[in-house]
Amino acid sequence: MEEQLRGDYMSIKFIEDKGCFHLKTKNTSYIIGLFKGKYLVHGYWGGKINDPNTDEMVIYEDFNSFSPNPDIEDKTYSLDTLNQEYGFYGKSDYRNPAIEVEYENGSRITELYYESHSIVGKKVGLRALPSAYAVEGDRVSTLRIDLRDPVESLLVSLYYCVYEDYDIITRFVEVKNKSCGKIKLNNVSSLCMDFEENEFEFIQLVGSWVREREIVRQPVGRGTHIIESKRGASSHHKNPFVALARRNTDEFQGQVYGFNLLYSGSFRSLIEVNAYNQMRFTMGLNPFNFSWNLFPGEVFESPEVVMAYSQEGLNGMSRLLHSFYKERLIRGEYKDRERPILMNNWEATYFDFDEEKIISLAKEGADLGIELFVLDDGWFGKRNSDKASLGDWIVNREKLSSGIEGLAHRINSLGMKFGIWVEPEMVSPDSDLYRSHPDWCIHVPNRTKSEGRNQLILDLSRREICNYILEKLTNLFESANIEYVKWDMNRSMTDVYSIGLSSEDQRQMEHRYYLGLYGILEELTKRFPRILFESCCGGGGRFDPAMLFYMPQTWTSDNTDAISRLSIQYGTSLAYPQAAMGAHVSIIPNHQTGRVTDLKIRGDVAMSANFGYELDLTKLSQGEKEEIREQIRWYKANRKLIQYGEFYRLKSPFHGNETAWMITDRDKTEFILYYYRVLKTPNMPRRRLRLKYLDSGREYIDTYTKRKYYGDVLMNLGIVIPHFPGDFKSHVIHFKAKE
Ligand code: DGJ
Repeated sequence: MEEQLRGDYMSIKFIEDKGCFHLKTKNTSYIIGLFKGKYLVHGYWGGKINDPNTDEMVIYEDFNSFSPNPDIEDKTYSLDTLNQEYGFYGKSDYRNPAIEVEYENGSRITELYYESHSIVGKKVGLRALPSAYAVEGDRVSTLRIDLRDPVESLLVSLYYCVYEDYDIITRFVEVKNKSCGKIKLNNVSSLCMDFEENEFEFIQLVGSWVREREIVRQPVGRGTHIIESKRGASSHHKNPFVALARRNTDEFQGQVYGFNLLYSGSFRSLIEVNAYNQMRFTMGLNPFNFSWNLFPGEVFESPEVVMAYSQEGLNGMSRLLHSFYKERLIRGEYKDRERPILMNNWEATYFDFDEEKIISLAKEGADLGIELFVLDDGWFGKRNSDKASLGDWIVNREKLSSGIEGLAHRINSLGMKFGIWVEPEMVSPDSDLYRSHPDWCIHVPNRTKSEGRNQLILDLSRREICNYILEKLTNLFESANIEYVKWDMNRSMTDVYSIGLSSEDQRQMEHRYYLGLYGILEELTKRFPRILFESCCGGGGRFDPAMLFYMPQTWTSDNTDAISRLSIQYGTSLAYPQAAMGAHVSIIPNHQTGRVTDLKIRGDVAMSANFGYELDLTKLSQGEKEEIREQIRWYKANRKLIQYGEFYRLKSPFHGNETAWMITDRDKTEFILYYYRVLKTPNMPRRRLRLKYLDSGREYIDTYTKRKYYGDVLMNLGIVIPHFPGDFKSHVIHFKAKE
């Protein structure tokens, strides 16, 4: 017997006689078994299976008395070895549980048994957290499975949202207290998945400030791997993204599972291999500094995880995530709109500017074809260094005599849009805001407040502080023709404590901070739909899908060096689309690395993402200005393809001296090849680069040289990379298919 959504629509089925749920997307199947009518077990996730006509969806064996039997009537199984869908503690499963609770009697034992399920033909959204959405006509459906603890009346609802055409499933969890006592949640993972074996390698994006998202790939060994942030931000150090790849998987082929958490705060992912080489994967809020008191009737929701499975290697996985984020996560007016080429005065002036300097930069930019001027840090209060004034969002008239309104007007009359930098989550101890509200920052009373970049973090777990920020920013954004906002956040959290919470609730603080932040962002993006928001956290310290839900682009890194950017942008592209990545040409020697590279490679790297300039254009030679004019002309001519095309990695900067990637349109009628070489190797013959993802029968024309190549030639034989003398070289070719 099958329960299905509609006659013609069957992305989720409950197959009662087999005791399983079958979730199907275009190319994948996800199967959840119902073992003994009550245990929810992970059956399968992978390539599409039409009909799971097997009686062996669940393999179970009784091992020994050290894997005890939860069921005294049937001693043939133990939860220690069953592949579970949401593991719990206390009834014979010794792996890290997906959920950890504490009841009023002090017991931490949990039993979660299937109670019921429902299937709806829509995407179920979250209440207060960012989540992927659906639009009219999408083939999307949601399965909710309710699990109940028979003793403690704890209801755990697992949600599976199946996006059939995107080959994406998202998961999240709701926990409801149906008892009459308090229940303490010490850990609520967004997902848990047990794999039968551990023949995998895991890939994570690790790094630090100015060295974000390096790709690190390691075998899944025995024991536990932890990928986490405890910094109060998703962080530069670990991105909330993990891939589990079969050992032979590379960019182009092989099986890979990708997981990405929609959350901007501390998170944790565990990969645990038990004594039987079974592998558990969990992802969610970091339980390290988390605990939530759930009172009778209350509900707690976890953040959502996006899951992508591909048999076409890492590029296949990235393509799924990119199109999903572009189409079903990013919102607002700029979702599909070409993003303006911007110039930002930060590396040009730092804090040292006045109105005439800004106007002289903008004039130069406008003349070269730049479309948006972004006024960075230093325009408010007494902010002449990073030591003061965060929180005092009032223009400094000594620097900008016309005020923000007047400056925006002057910039607009040059034919450019005007944008502004803010860092609203922060307060400087030397600020009027701090002097009037010294207790508004995150701190523990009677303890010294730890500063980072001379600043403290406002306690957004408190409603009145969120309201204050909303009011101040609304006034600012209404005060002038502001069409872009860069939203920065420049330190990790310390002293995590809120004077607005009872001692019992202190471990809610960080999550409440993010609920506060998301509330502010939701409101502001609603109030100012015309503003293009770019998120930033000292560069890429919060490059996560939750921020993309509110802000369609992110400043990828404070490191603008072209060679560093190769790895940063390559690593970022594993999960995130190129239109989400801010990439600027800056001055040499580079301010972060001291490296000297040509304007050409600086442009060629930045022009594969969301493009801009961040240098003093007034100090450039005529020749350099002409080169920039040409870069801008070329980028504008190809912008739609660059920002919204399909991005594929060809050669990894993590594996050698060369990097290559390409961007194609969906129909393979046009593409751009980007090739970069770091160091010149002496006395080497020219080499060929083999392309991918083209139409083999089509003829493509290099639009510059007019040379023609068939797709199969480009993919099988490859294209010859010309000789270039010197280090740090690049070669970019635009191809069009012959009509
Ligand atoms: C950190 C950002 O990443 C930079 O681009 C710049 O905006 C500074 N903050 C300003 O303080």
